[in-house]
Amino acid sequence: MKTKDKMIAGFSKFNKAEKIAWLVKHFFKSNPIETAREFASFWHTNLEAQKLFDGISENTLTNFYMPYGVAPNFLVNDKLYCVPMVIEESSVVAAASSGAKFWLNRGGFKAEVRSMTKVGHVHFKWGGSDPVKLFSFFNVLKPRLLAGVKEITKNMEKRGGGVTGLELLYLPEIEEGYYQLKVDFNTCDAMGANFINSVLEAFAKILDQEVASYHEFEGSEKEVVIVMAILSNYTPECIVKSWVECPVSDLGEFGEISAPVFAEKFVCAVNIACNDSYRAATHNKGIYNGIDAVVIATGNDFRAIEACGHAYASRNGKYVSLSRAEVKDGKFRFELEVPLAVGTIGGLTKIHPLAKKSLELLGNPSAEELMQLIASVGLAQNFAAVRSLVTTGIQKGHMKMHLANILTHFKATETERETAFDYFSDKTISFSSVRQYLSLLRGHTIAVNG
Ligand code: MEV
Repeated sequence: MKTKDKMIAGFSKFNKAEKIAWLVKHFFKSNPIETAREFASFWHTNLEAQKLFDGISENTLTNFYMPYGVAPNFLVNDKLYCVPMVIEESSVVAAASSGAKFWLNRGGFKAEVRSMTKVGHVHFKWGGSDPVKLFSFFNVLKPRLLAGVKEITKNMEKRGGGVTGLELLYLPEIEEGYYQLKVDFNTCDAMGANFINSVLEAFAKILDQEVASYHEFEGSEKEVVIVMAILSNYTPECIVKSWVECPVSDLGEFGEISAPVFAEKFVCAVNIACNDSYRAATHNKGIYNGIDAVVIATGNDFRAIEACGHAYASRNGKYVSLSRAEVKDGKFRFELEVPLAVGTIGGLTKIHPLAKKSLELLGNPSAEELMQLIASVGLAQNFAAVRSLVTTGIQKGHMKMHLANILTHFKATETERETAFDYFSDKTISFSSVRQYLSLLRGHTIAVNG
C-alpha cells in the first residue's frame, strides 16, 4: 500500500465505528475484523462512562488499561495513607509498599512544603531601543494589567490565590529587543494551567494595547510583538521536601549486611547519583516511578511534573540526584527535595472517576498535603530501589514479577504457579525457561503465544 493511501482528511469527523473501520482497513489488512473486535472489547460496558472517557481526548477508539494498585502503610507527618498508584512497571508498587512499611516502624516520613508559587511568561519583543523607557512604562502598565484581569482572577482571589508577582525582564542575550513579563501565581488547590494561561493571554493583549497608546512612546516604541504567552512547567518555587531518619543501629540487618555497612553503602550510592549524571538519570527515574504513579492516579499531569523535576535536577548546570543521604552523629538521614505542581481540584481530578476515587481514598487532601505525600512516595521508592541495589541487586525482585507475568501469559493454574515459584527460586527466569518448565508439567509443548 502506498503512503498516500494511508493519508486521510476529516478523520476526526468520523464516528468511532467509522474510525475503527478506516483504521483496520488500512493498517490491519490481514485481520481487520478481529482487530476491530479487539479494540471494541476494551470499551466500557457502561455507555455513559465510555462517553466520558471518549471526551477526555480526541480521535478516541478504545481504552488503554493500566493497573491501578495501592501501597498501604504510608505514614507521612503522622498520618497514615493507603496510596493509589497507576503504573505499568512490575515491582514498583511492591517496592513502594516495602519502603513505606520499613519506615512505618521508624517514625514514618516527614514532609514540608517550602513554597507553592507557579510561574508564567508573556514573551515579547519591543520596537524601542532604550530599555529604561520600557521599565519606566512598566510602572504605569503594572496596575493596568492587574486591573484588566480582575474578571479572571476574582474567584481565585476569593480562595486566597491569584497573581502574586509581576516583573519585567530584559533579555537581549537571547534575542535583540526581547523582554518577558514574568508572572507569579498562587493557584491554591488547583494545578491552575488554564487559569495561568488565561491571565497571561489577557496580559499580552493589554500590553499590546497599552504600548500602542502610551503617550510617551513614539515611532517604533509603539510596536510590540507578542511572541507567546504561556505558563512555565519549571516551578522551582513550588517545592516540597520529604525525609526519613533514624539511628543507624535502628536500620536493622540486611541479610548478611550489618546496619552500619548498609548505611555506608547506601550513602555512597546516593553520593554517586549526586555527582554522576549517568547514575543520576536512573536514580531519579526510580524516584519518578513512585511520583508518576500517584500523579497519574490522582489525575495530575505527569509530563509537567517530570519535565520540571529533571530541569530542577539540572539547576546548577549539571544533572544530578534529587535525593541526598548522610550519616551524621550515628543518624541515617535520607531526603528528597522536588518541585511538584499538582492540584486536587479542577482538570482531570474532576472528570476522571478513578482520579476522584484516589483523592477520596487519600481523604480529599489539599494540594499542599498531596505534594507532601507524593514526595514521600518518591522517597520511599528511591529508598527501596537503592536498598535493593546495595544489598541483593534488583533482579531478584524484578524476576519474581517477571515470572508472575510469564505464568499469567501461559494461563498457569494456581498449582502450576506455586510449583513454578518454588522451582525458579534458585534458577534463571526467562520466557523460554518458564515455557519449557510448564510444557514439562503439562506433558506437552506449549505454543509461544500460550
Ligand atoms: C527501575 O525502574 C528503577 C531503578 O533502576 C532505579 C534505580 O536504579 O535507582 C531500580
